[in-house]
Amino acid sequence: MELYFATSNKNKFSEALELFRKNGSVQIKQLKFKHNEIRSDSLEEIALEAVEKAYRKIKKPVFVEDSGLFIESLNNFPGTYSAWVYKKIGNRGILNILKSRNRTAVFRCCIAYANGNKRKVFFGECSGKIALRERGKKGFGYDPIFIPAGKKKTFAQSKELKKALSHRYKAIIALKSYIFNKK
Ligand code: IMP
Repeated sequence: MELYFATSNKNKFSEALELFRKNGSVQIKQLKFKHNEIRSDSLEEIALEAVEKAYRKIKKPVFVEDSGLFIESLNNFPGTYSAWVYKKIGNRGILNILKSRNRTAVFRCCIAYANGNKRKVFFGECSGKIALRERGKKGFGYDPIFIPAGKKKTFAQSKELKKALSHRYKAIIALKSYIFNKK
């Protein structure tokens, strides 16, 4: 089976590819996909709207992913606006805003899958906190400032930590289990 991941983010694609690679019966392919994302506070709404467009374009099994960083003391900012906020102010901007505020945060991910008339959503989340400064060079986006709960390293310092605990890996595992069990 060929399964398309509609994304223009090469980091997201390589994380998904790594998880699916272990099973030869599903081939993951990237559908380079740029579109105007709707504005919403709901990852699910955004992902479902995007997968509709992607499916219309390709008419083959396809999934999209929408994710974000939700910081509790900032009323869940940047949340579904994470990509835009990252582009505008980056990790330093987030660190400046936080200063002495509570640093509890959660990464959330929603995957929306479409095939024929079927639509399915899968979720993953990872709780943690925002580091005091940027640490590490691996990963992307907010990885250098996110420390998963109970750990000392940021996601950007440890690929292993990210793989075991990240919001995206959890959602992809849920998608994978659906894909393999429905056959
Ligand atoms: P979107 O899902 O493409 O709207 O973008 C979500 C944004 O959240 C990304 O551009 C990153 O800035 C951030 N983000 C999402 N997942 C991760 C992650 O695994 N690590 C670091 N930043 C992430």
